[in-house]
Amino acid sequence: MHHADGEVLGEFLVSARSLAEYRAMFQLSDDDLSGRRILDCPGGAASFTAEASTLGATVTAVDPIYARSTTALAEDAVTENDRAVAWAAANAHRYRWDWYGSPGGHAAIRRGAARRFAADLRAEPHRYIAASLPELPFPDKSFDLTLSSHLLFSYADRLDAEFHLAALHELSRVTDGEARLYPLLDYTGGALDELIGYLRTELRDKGVHTAVRKVRYEFHHGADTMLVLQPTS
Ligand SMILES: C[S@@+](CC[C@H](N)C(=O)[O-])C[C@H]1O[C@@H](n2cnc3c(N)ncnc32)[C@H](O)[C@@H]1O
Repeated sequence: MHHADGEVLGEFLVSARSLAEYRAMFQLSDDDLSGRRILDCPGGAASFTAEASTLGATVTAVDPIYARSTTALAEDAVTENDRAVAWAAANAHRYRWDWYGSPGGHAAIRRGAARRFAADLRAEPHRYIAASLPELPFPDKSFDLTLSSHLLFSYADRLDAEFHLAALHELSRVTDGEARLYPLLDYTGGALDELIGYLRTELRDKGVHTAVRKVRYEFHHGADTMLVLQPTS
């Protein structure tokens, strides 16, 4: 895919979203969290795991970056957060700012999340597992709910359709309930209707039912839906 100068994000960004953002992106209710086994993949530097654990969820975060040392990761979380916030501010026209109030509000939420992540990583390292899609080190149906934000679809410029398909099968395999994915646009805000149509057809043919569900959150213009993989019997 061709991009004009300044439009390429570079490597996978290690972003630090908060529980409030996860609740909004994935339409999570207290019932979705309390007492549930939840997988967050990729976890990045999100504070979802730390925060949802305090609400009674048993959360496992998976990301290849968890192979790095805790100190390096905590530092990277801050640097990467600066990169994420700078990208969003430089591309402000691509986004709707109402949920955050302003680019400053966005930066503050992300900074708080990165700090909370770093503290939890030190205190509860067992929650953070180094692994990479499309292969996860868990038995079938290990989780009641799986959440996956800002890897699949977001990086469709470098992750091809077969990677997406294998990753979705894997997320479905380890989940006994729903797997929810957000957003369904790439990181420039580009629509991916063809890719999503292809993936849904392939999954259906293999017995994995999917739905596209509206959410009450929209940061990239038009990113107001999530993909739901439904439990297989
Ligand atoms: C933009 S972050 C999203 C993190 C978090 N879900 C959030 O919304 O803040 C993308 C993450 O995907 C991770 N990643 C890259 N390749 C991956 C793979 N094959 N499997 C799992 N995670 C991967 C990166 O290390 C990075 O932390």
